[in-house]
Amino acid sequence: MALIECKNLTKVYGADGESQTHALSGATCSIESGEFIAIMGPSGSGKSTLMQIMGFLDHQTDGTYFFDGKDVATLTDDERAYRLNQKVGFVFQSFNLLPRLSVFENVALPQSYDFYNKKVKTKEHYAKVMKALASVSLQDRKDHLPNQLSGGEKQRAAIARALVNEPTVIFADEPTGNLDSHSGLQVMRTLQALHKEGHTVILVTHERDTAQHAQRILQMIDGKIAQDNVVQDRRDALKEGGLKK
Ligand SMILES: Nc1ncnc2c1ncn2[C@@H]1O[C@H](COP(=O)(O)OP(=O)(O)OP(=O)(O)O)[C@@H](O)[C@H]1O
Ligand SMILES: [Mg+2]
Repeated sequence: MALIECKNLTKVYGADGESQTHALSGATCSIESGEFIAIMGPSGSGKSTLMQIMGFLDHQTDGTYFFDGKDVATLTDDERAYRLNQKVGFVFQSFNLLPRLSVFENVALPQSYDFYNKKVKTKEHYAKVMKALASVSLQDRKDHLPNQLSGGEKQRAAIARALVNEPTVIFADEPTGNLDSHSGLQVMRTLQALHKEGHTVILVTHERDTAQHAQRILQMIDGKIAQDNVVQDRRDALKEGGLKK
């Protein structure tokens, strides 16, 4: 059984009578647990919209979305919120770190972090945050503020935040879009390492080079999956030399 199964998804933005945008017009795809997928396609082709539906952030207008064999439209709000918190993590182009919180505090946020007292509540909680930081090699930056980090480090902090609840799927929407090629490669290295550990990774990117790190590329055009190709000559960022930590 596929982890993610999208059948003829449509998404129309805008109410009846207003100007409407058909962001998805029958998108169909299937993703197995443990796959590393890249979604490509022109601007406006529906990549982010599809990712938001797959990540429980939005509802489709029509069609069916199965996650882990369950029709997501039949879930209660609580069941959906549980999946949003526990099954998926998001990484965005613009990092979205809170500027006044340290790296540690940013990563701790998705858990029951005590925002006002700035402390984690349990040892187990602390250990989870440190584990997430270790998996992106940022333990030694944990007390820095976001503006004291390089772009690549900011994005790795955002990946740690996405990881802290140990989600099944990591969705990354153009995670290298604001980075130079060196930092971009560090981020891809991190995503490939997470994939090797067993996470399902779904990456949106404009860059063919970046997409070559995935196992399979879904090409979107006009709100549909127009092509679905296995990546030949897959890039292995873990083996690409010349990287400082
Ligand atoms: N919240 C919204 N309200 C109205 N229209 C929207 C909304 N979000 C997206 N759209 C429209 O839906 C279409 C698909 O948008 P989407 O963001 O999914 O594209 P994309 O493939 O991610 O593009 P990009 O590569 O530029 O990020 C676009 O025409 C966009 O303008
Ligand atoms: Mg987008």
